[in-house]
Amino acid sequence: MATTRKGKKKSKKTTVNSKKTSRKTRNVKKSSGKTKKVTGKTGKAAGNTKVAGKTKKSTTGVSKKSGKKKPVKPSSHFKLIRKVADMKKLARELRSRRRKIALVPTMGFLHEGHLSLIREARRRASVVVVSVFVNPKQFGVNEDLDRYPRDLAGDRRKIRSEGADYMFAPDVAEMYPENFQTFVEVTGVTRDFCGASRPSHFRGVTTVVTKLFQIVQPDMAFFGEKDFQQLVTIRQMVRDLNQDINVIGMPTIREEDGLAMSSRNTYLSTSQRHQATAIYRGLRKAKRLCDSGEYDAAELSAVVLDLLREQRDMEIEYVAVSDPNTLERIHEVEKQAVLMVAVRVGDTRLIDNIRLTVRRRR
Ligand code: PAJ
Repeated sequence: MATTRKGKKKSKKTTVNSKKTSRKTRNVKKSSGKTKKVTGKTGKAAGNTKVAGKTKKSTTGVSKKSGKKKPVKPSSHFKLIRKVADMKKLARELRSRRRKIALVPTMGFLHEGHLSLIREARRRASVVVVSVFVNPKQFGVNEDLDRYPRDLAGDRRKIRSEGADYMFAPDVAEMYPENFQTFVEVTGVTRDFCGASRPSHFRGVTTVVTKLFQIVQPDMAFFGEKDFQQLVTIRQMVRDLNQDINVIGMPTIREEDGLAMSSRNTYLSTSQRHQATAIYRGLRKAKRLCDSGEYDAAELSAVVLDLLREQRDMEIEYVAVSDPNTLERIHEVEKQAVLMVAVRVGDTRLIDNIRLTVRRRR
């Protein structure tokens, strides 16, 4: 269960599922420290760690996938579509020709994390549509909608050179014409974590994703595990509303030093960028602890909290161990769990997570 405890250095309230931890229990034998090569598995079996780039051992302890990127042939018929009606017409035509449509929904300012989704979509479908839309309905009143980074021309170039077929980039009036008044809301799995601090955020996400599903009519849609609660929410929505779409979760792509790639990383100053590396260091440390036989959620959270609290500009929103399917907080890792973190570094909100697995029962 969650307890609220105050930070050591600061007196900020932090919701964590942790209790006081003794040094003794934290010094449990370290795991072998072997590096693990993580490949791009998809779906439920996917790990959530992947570092983009060339062969080189990274500071994260994750070996990089070898080799240069295979040159991709840009699609010869690539098209930018700005109107809902045009996209719907195209989707109808594609479906009548029995083409398998993949959708990669994004808010643009694309980085390697987004591109990994596009690559997997290309591998699995005959037509790939990448949507770029900064969705105002998922931003709270005091959030970063206005300063959210945008680069439509750069995104177009990247999407095309990754071999996607269509970029769907409607403007706000296209998606939300005057008198728009319908929302899709998933109630349970959105309540805690990011849903608690961003009350209408997931309602905005599920509404826009449902609209995109209606417009693009995809057979499959790709989402990153980086936004773990979002992925669980979309899966829940698809199940509940009988949306005939295969939701595919993809591993988190990281910078060299382990920071999860995010469009919001551009907001960070040099010092904040450095402090942000504590997030993944903490997650890795907790995972190693779990691998060495510590399954107590509070103990695992505590190692992350300790590292985060050392960072001058970091305000901790939550550190929690949950069931990866229901997102319910758990006291002990039974088989599978997800350790999720949300912090603010200065004005920038960052989230990350790592999967925990019990390899053998005691
Ligand atoms: P955005 O933040 O642009 O992310 C688009 C997709 O890319 C999401 O599925 C997200 O989880 C994934 N992604 C982001 N960073 C990633 C990383 N480092 N590694 C792997 N995947 C990553 O998430 C949204 O947009 C919006 O909420 C959206 C679903 C488009 C609805 O508006």
